[in-house]
Amino acid sequence: MKLNEIIEMDKKYYMNTFGDRTPVCFDYGKGINLWDIEGKKYYDFLGGIAVSAVGHSHPKLVNAIKTQAEKLIHCSNLYYIEPQVKLAKLLVENSCADKVFFANSGAEANEGAIKLARIYFKKKGMPEKYEIITLEKSFHGRTLATIAATGQDKYQKPYSPLTPKFLKVPINDLEALEKAINGTTCAVMIEPIQGESGVNLTTIEYLQGVRKLCDEKGILLIFDEVQCGLGRTGKLFAYEHFGVEPDIFTLAKALGGGFPIGALLAKDHVASAFEPGDHGSTFGGNPLACAAALAAMEIILSENLVENSEKMGNYLVEKLLELKNKHSLIEEIRGKGLMVGIQLNSENAVEIKNKCFEKGYLVGSVGKNIIRLLPPLIISKEDIDGFISTLDGILSDI
Ligand SMILES: Cc1ncc(COP(=O)(O)O)c(C=O)c1O
Repeated sequence: MKLNEIIEMDKKYYMNTFGDRTPVCFDYGKGINLWDIEGKKYYDFLGGIAVSAVGHSHPKLVNAIKTQAEKLIHCSNLYYIEPQVKLAKLLVENSCADKVFFANSGAEANEGAIKLARIYFKKKGMPEKYEIITLEKSFHGRTLATIAATGQDKYQKPYSPLTPKFLKVPINDLEALEKAINGTTCAVMIEPIQGESGVNLTTIEYLQGVRKLCDEKGILLIFDEVQCGLGRTGKLFAYEHFGVEPDIFTLAKALGGGFPIGALLAKDHVASAFEPGDHGSTFGGNPLACAAALAAMEIILSENLVENSEKMGNYLVEKLLELKNKHSLIEEIRGKGLMVGIQLNSENAVEIKNKCFEKGYLVGSVGKNIIRLLPPLIISKEDIDGFISTLDGILSDI
């Protein structure tokens, strides 16, 4: 099909939740590159919004999906599933968690985390503890509960009244959090590095303080690592940067290397609050999704992608800082590993994103003044050099 025919069909048949999309339709990908249906090559510096960590169509991932699909795509969780237990073991052995539950997306994993925190206190005989405190500017998903948890009006307003209620406090403000904790609080839920609001970092002192507060008050700490987990920040899990372990954390995005899967992970004493019938999923943890995620995880670990994320992230930031010295348009470079935000002091973010696109580079924009980069973790210095010189040219033109 031609691009204009696809766009026409999209306008006619698809719900208009994405508005006017970038006018391109990708046909295939390899590594960090994508090719559109007209044969034009792109460098993917957004990675499907932090999903394509192992690059596009990694042969080991493709092979794992093919092999599993030929054997068994789905069976119910009424039965034992080999790829599911193998993936659970790999995640537990490489993290601070003892138990795992698989969902189909980040929002669904977070729903599970919210339910687990609530039921944990119910089963302890403290049903009055049901409220969760989250951060302003956070993003936790698009289901009703995760929209309520999200600290951004634009996602909430169209659906209010929202239920359940989540109290919001500013990022890196321990005093505000301490004041907000009350007799109904069961947990605090935090993205160690906020993604959707433009790469906002929590500080080590803050997260260590939050952990201490949660311990003192006897409440749970939940980390949403849907975007910042699995090597994205130069550590396998973002919490490792802070010397803090959560009681519960969630993953999705990069977990399946592009195949939809989410995960809810918890320490044993918390996980045991879920008893038969308390939670479930038809598709969550099915053989195909788990085989894909198992392959993606094995690639991340065996190809040293966490180390590459740290190294290439440092190189990218170093090069962006050189651009900052040259172009007054750049106000700040924020990030860890390959989760990077370019804060502009003007409202050119969409213009810059579009110019990058014209030159074959895919980047993201947040609002009017932040550019966001989330490239595959396999990225090389040469890829970064190409992007930096393209961005340099665009900034000079503006
Ligand atoms: C931190 C965070 N949590 C949750 C989600 C929701 O994930 P999903 O879109 O897979 O439901 C996202 C998606 O951007 C996210 O960045």
